[in-house]
Amino acid sequence: TGLITLDPGYKNTGATKSAITFLDGEQGVLRYRGYRIEDLSKKATFLEVSYLLIYGELPNQAEYDKFTREITLHTLVHEDIKKILAGFPSNAHPMGVLSSLICSLSAFYPDSLNPNQSEEEVNLSIVRLMAKMPTFAAWAMKNKVGHPVNYPDNTLDYCSNLLKMMFALPAEKYEVDPIVATALDKLLILHADHEQNCSTSTVRMVGSSQASIYASISAGINALWGPLHGGANQSVIEMLEAIKADGGDAKKYLDKAKDKNDSFRLMGFGHRVYKNFDPRAKIIKQAADEVLGRLGVSDPVLDIAKELEHAALNDQYFIDRKLYPNVDFYSGIIYRALGIPTDMFTVMFALGRLPGWIAQWKEMREQKEPIGRPRQIYVGAGERDYVFINKR
Ligand code: CMC
Repeated sequence: TGLITLDPGYKNTGATKSAITFLDGEQGVLRYRGYRIEDLSKKATFLEVSYLLIYGELPNQAEYDKFTREITLHTLVHEDIKKILAGFPSNAHPMGVLSSLICSLSAFYPDSLNPNQSEEEVNLSIVRLMAKMPTFAAWAMKNKVGHPVNYPDNTLDYCSNLLKMMFALPAEKYEVDPIVATALDKLLILHADHEQNCSTSTVRMVGSSQASIYASISAGINALWGPLHGGANQSVIEMLEAIKADGGDAKKYLDKAKDKNDSFRLMGFGHRVYKNFDPRAKIIKQAADEVLGRLGVSDPVLDIAKELEHAALNDQYFIDRKLYPNVDFYSGIIYRALGIPTDMFTVMFALGRLPGWIAQWKEMREQKEPIGRPRQIYVGAGERDYVFINKR
């Protein structure tokens, strides 16, 4: 064991070289392929950013049109997927449904099991993932609410199509609100990549065994689900609602979070890498105010969030540990204002993170990285002899 360095949670271990995302946790800097997140979230579309992450450069008009057209052409999913969906209980969490449906693509497209797929075949898998994930996400939500699923509308842009599949009802005319579609597009950009986080490392790890791209992405969705990762956006709103129901005393929950005998943590606070501020949270906080204002929504939970943030930022415990609001602290408030149910928040995160996972999977493959296989320091029993059951 002499040569093995122990690093639980890989706090200090670089697992790969990567040219995709730059993150400076001390300065609060985030760039995709060199482009500032502040710039991209203001000026680009989600599909442009997806292309940038996956293929390394911003697309020119012809490349963008081709990418968009191909994704639009693949939005429909095999009709048998509805049978899989029907097998889930109606209370199934949409994240579990989503990861299962994504994994099922390996059955519908068994060519993806071949690790020596050509670049063209890999690109087709990438397009399928980008195209079908919104359909699956919307269907996972419909399963939960008990409504019939909607088929994709290929006359619409990426986010408008997603919203229509999520919210349109057969008996009613549905018009996508452009404010909602634009806000969603911005949120997806902010979530699109974040270097070697838990879910991305999972995608690379599973992919390193040469499992199919669909199985690798499905694994990433499962890793994202947990409350310490993408699941935090759902937990934040649940926490804020609990504070509201409990009389709105933010200070009480701050004390709970500081109490080492209490497992409660302030959800949406703290980050493994950001020790200054999370630049995404800054953008999202401003967007929350804007979106709520433009939609004319007033949400008492936003006031509690601001109060809690203010109290935490001025509290010695949080100052000492450099704990700041992260991307998940305010995103749920926007999702709520857009009418998205709480248990769909992490699904929205997954939709945003998809191009990042794909880009990282592709880079891992192109760099011909070895199988991921960490070591350990064994601390168990020494050698001993087997004892028959009647002698124990
Ligand atoms: N509330 C109260 N105390 C906290 C919190 C929090 N949210 N986060 C960290 N701490 C304390 C922690 O108890 C520890 O204190 P001490 O040094 O006294 O033992 C110290 O701060 C360092 O924390 P850590 O757990 O060693 O840090 P980590 O890098 O292992 O964990 C984290 C990072 C994000 C999992 C953690 O901050 C956390 O649990 N936050 C709440 C969940 C959350 O918001 N997750 C979303 C992360 S951002 C988006 C994403 O990844 O999806």
